[in-house]
Amino acid sequence: MYKLIGTLHIPGDKSVSHRALILSSMSIGKSEITNLLEADDIKATIGILKILGIKIFKKSNKWIVYGNGTNGYLQPKKNLNAQNSGTTARTMIGAVSSNPIKCRFVGDKSLSKRSMSRVTIYLEKLGAKFKLTKKDYLPLESLGTECLIPEKILIEKPSAQIKTALIFAGLNIYGKFTIKEKVLTRDHTENLLKYLNVKHKIIRGKDRSNTIELKGPYEIYSKNIKVAGDPSSAAFFIVGALITPGSKINLKNVMLNPTRIEYIKVLKKMGGDISFKKTEKISGEQCGDITVRYSRLRAINIKRSLSPFLIDEYPILSIAACYAEGNTKMEGLSELRHKESDRITSIVSNLKKAGVKARNIKDSILITGSSKLKTKKCIIKSFGDHRIACSFMILALLNRDIKVDNEKCVSVSYPNFKRDLKTLLNK
Ligand code: S3P
Repeated sequence: MYKLIGTLHIPGDKSVSHRALILSSMSIGKSEITNLLEADDIKATIGILKILGIKIFKKSNKWIVYGNGTNGYLQPKKNLNAQNSGTTARTMIGAVSSNPIKCRFVGDKSLSKRSMSRVTIYLEKLGAKFKLTKKDYLPLESLGTECLIPEKILIEKPSAQIKTALIFAGLNIYGKFTIKEKVLTRDHTENLLKYLNVKHKIIRGKDRSNTIELKGPYEIYSKNIKVAGDPSSAAFFIVGALITPGSKINLKNVMLNPTRIEYIKVLKKMGGDISFKKTEKISGEQCGDITVRYSRLRAINIKRSLSPFLIDEYPILSIAACYAEGNTKMEGLSELRHKESDRITSIVSNLKKAGVKARNIKDSILITGSSKLKTKKCIIKSFGDHRIACSFMILALLNRDIKVDNEKCVSVSYPNFKRDLKTLLNK
């Protein structure tokens, strides 16, 4: 049987890569970005920024961006194609809304089924104007104006994409603009603003809320940015090592932002032998090395209140749950219905196919696990969803009769996933 042994450098974080490119495009001058994630979602952001008149190119291992300022996007002559990337579409809709340009956003089949009104309803409160397909979807037209009015906005849904769209718009809005999210979500945008010396105020409430006060318009001066390793990519190897007997791995350069590593706490609670050592702060984000050893896992209840911090890791946590003795319950997953696929359905239907006892009750998933799990021969349907494909490729490590239908879709967030997994595989 295979086990995972060795050391791996984790590629750049997807969320930070989008933000590094977009904030560099809004800065004045030249930025050099290193360790940028070179995946399909990030290429979508690069493509859109180029159409908006931003000069971007790669020189040796650096991405060079010549920013045009917070009011510097040029009238595009083509559609802005976000492809499969929700973060690209939603945050760029915010970024262009406070520039006096007309833009038409399009995306692939999956993205065209995902809600865009979740972002535009808030921007409309500032006076932005949009035309959406069936009031919610791409293709979407943004009419663009320099005269957005700063308001006090309260974001009800936990969504870093909505928050970031508002912040990007706010960088070119005159006056005091307050964005409050009821529940703190990943805070990479705020961390990069701080790193780029953009003066703003952050108020963290005792009620888990997070408030950002902007006073635009801003002149941001370019700074070089290094992107830390993606903890959501690291999660696949961490679970892989936890469930395959005899494994011991070391992951280097992983971002340890507290809003992103809740899954490590969950896995440790399940009995996972995981330790980490903080190394350095990279462009405003704490990084570190993570060591993982094979562990006997036990089932737990994962509370609804944790879901904003685990949102991208439920697919791989489901694979851990298959090997955790007992019944694991994951609650409060309604947002998973709005990802690259309906991830509640993608997880449960594929686990059942593989012979795992799994079901969902409304927005909770229940999985009965065992360290002696016996699976069935099957072909997993990835639904073109990168995180579903990567997660089930990990399940397939222990179950050679399980195959994933479309491994190529991992290129959305991790083009070299299979190569990196192979470097750790040992007999
Ligand atoms: C992201 C935010 C999350 C996450 C996505 C990336 C971001 O989405 O699922 O993969 O970079 O802001 P929501 O903000 O919609 O929860």
